[in-house]
Amino acid sequence: MTIAAPPREGPGATPGPFDVVVLGSGVAGLSAAVRVAAGPGTKGSRVCILTKGLLSETATTWAQGGVAAAIGGEEDSVELHLADTLAAGANLCDIDAARTLVEEGPLRVKELISMGATFDREESGTLALAREGGHSRARVVHAGGAATGAEIERALAAAVRGLAVTILEGWFALDLVVRAQACRGVRALAPDGHVVEIRADHVVLATGGAGQLYAVTTNPAEATGDGIAMALRAGVPVADIEFLQFHPTALHHPATPRPLLSEALRGAGAVLRDARGARFVDELAPRDVVSRAMAQRMLAQGVEHLWLDATGIESFASRYPTIAAVLARVGLDPSHDWLPVAPAAHHLSGGVVTDLFGATLLPGLWAAGEVACTGVHGANRLASNSLLEGLVFGARLAERIADGHAAPSATGAMRMLLTARSKAMPLRPDEVPPVPARAAPRVAPVSAGPTARAWASAGGPGGHAVECPGPLRGAGSSRQAGAKNPVGERKAYLAHAMTTGAGVIREASSLEEVAAVVEKVAGSLCEVDAMHQEASELANVVAVARALVASAMTREESRGAHTRVDFARTDPSWRCRLVHGDLGAEGVE
Ligand code: SIN
Repeated sequence: MTIAAPPREGPGATPGPFDVVVLGSGVAGLSAAVRVAAGPGTKGSRVCILTKGLLSETATTWAQGGVAAAIGGEEDSVELHLADTLAAGANLCDIDAARTLVEEGPLRVKELISMGATFDREESGTLALAREGGHSRARVVHAGGAATGAEIERALAAAVRGLAVTILEGWFALDLVVRAQACRGVRALAPDGHVVEIRADHVVLATGGAGQLYAVTTNPAEATGDGIAMALRAGVPVADIEFLQFHPTALHHPATPRPLLSEALRGAGAVLRDARGARFVDELAPRDVVSRAMAQRMLAQGVEHLWLDATGIESFASRYPTIAAVLARVGLDPSHDWLPVAPAAHHLSGGVVTDLFGATLLPGLWAAGEVACTGVHGANRLASNSLLEGLVFGARLAERIADGHAAPSATGAMRMLLTARSKAMPLRPDEVPPVPARAAPRVAPVSAGPTARAWASAGGPGGHAVECPGPLRGAGSSRQAGAKNPVGERKAYLAHAMTTGAGVIREASSLEEVAAVVEKVAGSLCEVDAMHQEASELANVVAVARALVASAMTREESRGAHTRVDFARTDPSWRCRLVHGDLGAEGVE
């Protein structure tokens, strides 16, 4: 393969070239990197992890509940885990993807333990298993009570640091480099502010989700939908993006991100109470059901939050030390106080369409974890299936790269894009028909404008080079936006609109209002400096918001995490994935 010499836009050294560049350093990215760097077929490969923060500044580190896997309980089985996953997904899961997830999950958890991850155990020494919403059995492996993601991240980061992997911290991927219809690397912003092209035979998107589209979110500041936006700009298919899941029990507190009160608390007996103290929902229903019931109750009672009553949980502080510490900091004692909670944006069930091996439609581009749409989650992810997804599909794509495969296969969510052109696989007698594709309305690509360097020369994010048009100024939380930060103000304004109009409950008029805000912010992007990370993140947020709102307006039904008051029923004719990007495909294996 011939790759043109990269443009030199600045004096910084250009890292690479690499065999594999992984964008993002959460559970999916690190699982992939470890296996490429140490795997039998790829050992000795030149592997790079590029991350915009520090290695462990990822959503994974924040993940509380755990990893769902039918690993121990005698009453459990992969079939039961599969059934729960499919039920939560509201008839939109790809069954093969979900089966792959639950079948390979126990192995990947054991591999993590052999890498040094320590999970909570019973006195007998067996893994302690928690129950969470939508699970018919206790099967959630956890660490430190509700600090599971931090332990997984610690173990994987330690493994990566012990291997010959180039780690680029503080680097920001601006866009994919696409030549001759293949991904050849990324254009990235170096910490010294210069743009370089990093060449790679394989690029792995593991950039996580997009919670920062919303003002009320459990996601860290890094979750700006970067990988999805890059895919959208490159025309790589993105699907199921309207299924943005809200976690029911975020602490009602102005902190950003919102502190999470894990589902494990409800699994251990905590109950939800409305403003009058009454229970109103099965607390262990899938989380779309619980969030919807909460949003409806909050609207009916005219309140901003409800209550989580965890007073019945014994030894709260020793079982959930990290949550207890957060509560103590805000003056709450869970053994006596009801805890104020409200739903918060938490997880994107859709993303960049992949097959069961992480391949996207663009040769050389792979995706795993929250950025991907494998088909495992359908319209609503089952609790604690997301760390599992990162473990399983991060590993699978690394093994696929090692096998030398390049083209996507007609499996998982990718099947809908390829089967029409391939020898369609006959359905097994017991098989549910695969979910078909439908084109989402075309949305224009979004990127920050060409006014290079104006921002930086005006003093960086605190400068006044970019003026917000009237309605943008002062909207949203100035705490989040930063007092004189126009990009922050635009982001907060958009995030506020998303929360109110495209949140748990949606209808045509509210979505139209959000669409207008998205366009207003998109229209102002030409004024900001594309070479600045914060401006590029805003462009990414706008691109994802535009696609999400377009899909949410198009899907005239309610299903899983997508609730329309004007189309309240689930409509079988909408059993499809709305796909943004290029639906044409070639090269089925
Ligand atoms: C939680 O602990 O409630 C979050 C787990 C998840 O999002 O799966």
